[in-house]
Amino acid sequence: MKKVIILNAGPRKNFNTAKMLKEAQKGAEQAGAEVEYFNLYDYNFLGCRSCFACQRKGSTTEGICAIKDDIKPILEKCLNADAIVIGTPVYFSYPTGVFRSFMERLLFPNHTYMVDKENGGLKRRLNKTIPTGIIFTMNCPENMAKDVNYPVLLGENVNVFNHIMGYAEVLYAYDTYQFADYSKYNIDLFDEKYKAKHRDEQFPKDLEKAFDLGKRLVNE
Ligand SMILES: Cc1cc2nc3c(=O)[nH]c(=O)nc-3n(C[C@H](O)[C@H](O)[C@H](O)COP(=O)(O)O)c2cc1C
Repeated sequence: MKKVIILNAGPRKNFNTAKMLKEAQKGAEQAGAEVEYFNLYDYNFLGCRSCFACQRKGSTTEGICAIKDDIKPILEKCLNADAIVIGTPVYFSYPTGVFRSFMERLLFPNHTYMVDKENGGLKRRLNKTIPTGIIFTMNCPENMAKDVNYPVLLGENVNVFNHIMGYAEVLYAYDTYQFADYSKYNIDLFDEKYKAKHRDEQFPKDLEKAFDLGKRLVNE
């Protein structure tokens, strides 16, 4: 049975990012995979410490970060998975710090500083492909995302996964409904009625895309 790991790199367990990830889980399960879901904010860990144990000559780390902490077992599961889906809210134009810390820990031990003399670029260390789906949820409306450079700022994370894991694709959910009750907060930047309409009309379509992503990655 194929194994899929789903990672929530946002702090809220039942909001937009989590809803998208739970749909991806349903899609992967419908495709016959066994899914494990982790909320990364529940784990105590930091990013890469630059110890370079993974890049040393004769390194025995085999793609798993040498640091022994809460997420080592999750890193191992990711490397043994048939697909990974990771979701994050956009915080100040980037993924969350937890997403980046996890990304450093997962990807740097599988990164190389070795030139691929046949194909150019850097040699891949993984001798397989682990298809990875990355879901970003954000307040920003779709038509503004390009103006604020999100395809580049967020896309660069996808490029790194694509190179190291062998395949990555991205899904954006724009204009998310951020609060359970807008009336309780100081906000005049967003129109609650517009946000509610978007949540009711567009977000279900985004959830469908997340379902399809989960399903598709299993067969990638
Ligand atoms: C600290 C913080 C920073 C944020 N920065 C941005 C931002 O730069 N761009 C954006 O579009 N949304 C931003 N947002 C909004 C969230 O990305 C958006 O509401 C997201 O869907 C929240 O995900 P969640 O519902 O899973 O928590 C920010 C939210 C927080 C809490």
